[in-house]
Amino acid sequence: MRLSTTLLLAASATVISAQTTYRTSSKRGLVFVPSKNTKLQYDNQVWVENGSDLTWYYNYQATPSAAYANRTQEEFEFVPMLWSTDTDFYSTVKGLIDGGRNISHVLAYNEPDGESSTGGSSIDPAAAATNWISQIEPLRELGVKVGAPAVTGSPRGFTWLEDFFNSCADQGTNCTIDFIPIHWYGDFGGLASHMGQVNGTYPNVTQWITEYALNDQPLEATQSFFNMSAEYFDRLDNVGRYSYFGSFRSDVSNVGPNAAMLTQKGELTDIGSWYLGGAATNNIPKPGKDNAASRGTATMGLVAFLSVVVGFMAL
Ligand SMILES: *[C@@H]1O[C@H](CO)[C@@H](O)[C@H](O)[C@H]1NC(C)=O
Ligand SMILES: *[C@@H]1O[C@H](CO)[C@@H](O)[C@H](O)[C@H]1NC(C)=O
Ligand SMILES: *[C@@H]1O[C@H](CO)[C@@H](O)[C@H](O)[C@H]1NC(C)=O
Ligand SMILES: *[C@@H]1O[C@H](CO)[C@@H](O)[C@H](O)[C@H]1NC(C)=O
Ligand SMILES: *[C@@H]1O[C@H](CO)[C@@H](O)[C@H](O)[C@H]1NC(C)=O
Ligand SMILES: *[C@@H]1O[C@H](CO)[C@@H](O)[C@H](O)[C@H]1NC(C)=O
Ligand SMILES: *[C@@H]1O[C@H](CO)[C@@H](O)[C@H](O)[C@H]1NC(C)=O
Repeated sequence: MRLSTTLLLAASATVISAQTTYRTSSKRGLVFVPSKNTKLQYDNQVWVENGSDLTWYYNYQATPSAAYANRTQEEFEFVPMLWSTDTDFYSTVKGLIDGGRNISHVLAYNEPDGESSTGGSSIDPAAAATNWISQIEPLRELGVKVGAPAVTGSPRGFTWLEDFFNSCADQGTNCTIDFIPIHWYGDFGGLASHMGQVNGTYPNVTQWITEYALNDQPLEATQSFFNMSAEYFDRLDNVGRYSYFGSFRSDVSNVGPNAAMLTQKGELTDIGSWYLGGAATNNIPKPGKDNAASRGTATMGLVAFLSVVVGFMAL
């Protein structure tokens, strides 16, 4: 009796967990927004513990995060980013490679068409081209795959990129890209349409969706967006990787509490757990005093809030 009860319980637990854990994906990675509160360092480990399916991360910087110093490149691939027109990016990344770290991909320029007030690096396309030729082209010659400048999802992103490639040509170089990063804040229809437009402009170039969320919306709509976009990214062959913008607590989220992957107490939300390949937690994210005021007027596709803070955090 006792034995069969145990077996039954074990069997039903297996069924439940098989039904409720989220689909895993080798494309999924982390946009790392480290917790500034030194008492909350566990927030930084939650993304890589207990069978998380995340395979890679970026942190808006050229060097790996101290929080993941004990993870090898093979365990948790670090993707360096050239934030702005820095002139030591090549030597920094070359140093990582010479030190034995297998850097296979780099990202360049965080929202160069955006203002610093919204997390952009606000770079002139011609200056970006000059800097790219000195810092990115030599990495490509080493076999590193390079992402196009990571423009915002607004129409001016397309203009900026066109100006950038034209400036490269004017300077006698074809700035060649291996993949194109996409940022999107807004609904699923807008995301799919934007990806289609990028695909039309840069046909057959592999897409990485490196910042995305449905910001400032009710929980169910936010979760529905999350589900639809994950399914879409996993299904499309020309989506190479994706990283959801939400690795922070709901009470400090600048994309609205419901988009965050951690609650105000630091527990995984449903989206947070699903993203790591786990089951729903039923932890409901709550706003804090810093984000309680609605940012509902944010223009869809234009917004990338936290990056500027992140860019200068040394964790
Ligand atoms: C990982 O598992 C340990 C042991 O069960 C638990 O204490 C910890 O909270 C778990 N971490 C996450 C992120 O679920
Ligand atoms: C890595 O270090 C963090 C603390 O910095 C710790 O929480 C984590 O368990 C360590 N992981 C491994 C695999 O050693
Ligand atoms: C370096 O990493 C890339 C991408 O993860 C992988 O394809 C390649 O085999 C790795 N190279 C070495 C020498 O480990
Ligand atoms: C750039 O690529 C175009 C098209 O492939 C080619 O016609 C042109 O000669 C290249 N320019 C340079 C400077 O390599
Ligand atoms: C991009 O276009 C190719 C065909 O040129 C298609 O196979 C692919 O699904 C499209 N991807 C997106 C994201 O629209
Ligand atoms: C995209 O790639 C496919 C398969 O390699 C090829 O058949 C198609 O012509 C390409 N489309 C464009 C617009 O380059
Ligand atoms: C999202 O997906 C999870 C896991 O499949 C499911 O339990 C949940 O009901 C979905 N939510 C919405 C709003 O689609």
